[in-house]
Amino acid sequence: MWKYSEIKEKLQIEIKKPEQTGLAHLTHFFQSHQNGASRYFEKEALHYAKSIDSTNLEEPYFQRYLPFEWDIPFPPHEQGRFKFIDLFAGIGGFRLAFHNLGGKCVFTSEWNVYAQKTYHANFGEVPFGDITKINEEEIPEHDILIAGFPCQPFSIAGVSKKNSLGRQHGFNDETQGTLFFDIKRILDEKRPKAFLLENVKNLVSHDKGNTFKVIKKTLEGLRYSIHYRVLDGKHFVPQHRERILIVGFDMDRYQGNEHFSFPEMPEATHSIEEILEPDVLPKYTLSDKLWKYLQDYAAKHKAKGNGFGYGLVAMDGISRTLSARYYKDGSEVLIPQDHQNPRRLTPRECARLQGFPDEFLIPVSDTQAYKQFGNSVVSPLMQAVGAHIVNELEQLDEPIGQGDTLRTEC
Ligand SMILES: C[S@@+](CC[C@H](N)C(=O)[O-])C[C@H]1O[C@@H](n2cnc3c(N)ncnc32)[C@H](O)[C@@H]1O
Repeated sequence: MWKYSEIKEKLQIEIKKPEQTGLAHLTHFFQSHQNGASRYFEKEALHYAKSIDSTNLEEPYFQRYLPFEWDIPFPPHEQGRFKFIDLFAGIGGFRLAFHNLGGKCVFTSEWNVYAQKTYHANFGEVPFGDITKINEEEIPEHDILIAGFPCQPFSIAGVSKKNSLGRQHGFNDETQGTLFFDIKRILDEKRPKAFLLENVKNLVSHDKGNTFKVIKKTLEGLRYSIHYRVLDGKHFVPQHRERILIVGFDMDRYQGNEHFSFPEMPEATHSIEEILEPDVLPKYTLSDKLWKYLQDYAAKHKAKGNGFGYGLVAMDGISRTLSARYYKDGSEVLIPQDHQNPRRLTPRECARLQGFPDEFLIPVSDTQAYKQFGNSVVSPLMQAVGAHIVNELEQLDEPIGQGDTLRTEC
């Protein structure tokens, strides 16, 4: 039996640019070849594979390669408990969470090449690129749509303000031209049973609440019943990270009869020392110059009454929110060290701070890794919320009395 690493080499599955649609089709086909979703990818997968290896692809196609052994950290479930799609996938913080719940991912989109590399190394799938260019009809049927979409509220607010002033703006949809619009058109076409959207906490208050109002109205207009809550990752990892989570259930299917509730948060008992590596290379210690700069900067702002400054973490405490700019100077999360300057976290420690297990591969440079983990999610928190969505769907879809056998504890 072949191993995936051998097939990867043979079929030249190597990410070089963001729009690798041939590779995306091929790897999506391999992930789904045992379920109905494969028909969405087979033709293009074959086209790509023939361009590399025409001699070995006589009918029945791909039989020479299938089945193969997945030698990657998180191989797909052959038949999942449910199907989901992973939009704005980053490195797969949501994928990991819903994979752990027994779900089968049938479509992924992420346009950043370095994030695609990390995603592929761990999950064996090359994401499709720019979501704005993907036809919603080409996305397979799924039970749950997941999207940690980038924060772009200004454009939503911009359009809605123009609307309220009655100006012409060329669009009759308040979300057109934003990435939220792409989520909307996919929900509208595919009608998943439920969805989970994630964004920064400030989405709720942005533009005096108007941005969130447009988002909520749009989702309700699609006939989904909406539940939302701001939750903090500190209950699962030693990091303060508040995010808004928006969960929707299809009204056409369930008539608003779901009994969904967000999970109770466990007591926040984590501390930063749990995630620290024992031996860390000297390159992670701040230089005298940078440390002096950060101290001077903080002192200047303190004198002006501002709270800006570096975040030296107490060993028994938790960190501030890790951001995508951590690679610049690491100032938001600094680890004190005896008799030397503080140090920044290593990429592996950043992975742990977001709740990724140590099997998760980091195949990119430190700079890219910092950006990727800073952009990601506290995966165990998403898993806890996901468990409640999946349980509720199983309750709703099962005949009364049988659902309990399938319930997941979280
Ligand atoms: C906030 S991050 C989500 C990270 C993800 N939840 C994770 O666990 O890693 C948003 C992601 O959307 C991607 N993105 C932005 N615009 C996109 C587009 N038009 N098409 C596909 N991906 C896009 C970015 O590259 C970024 O990785």
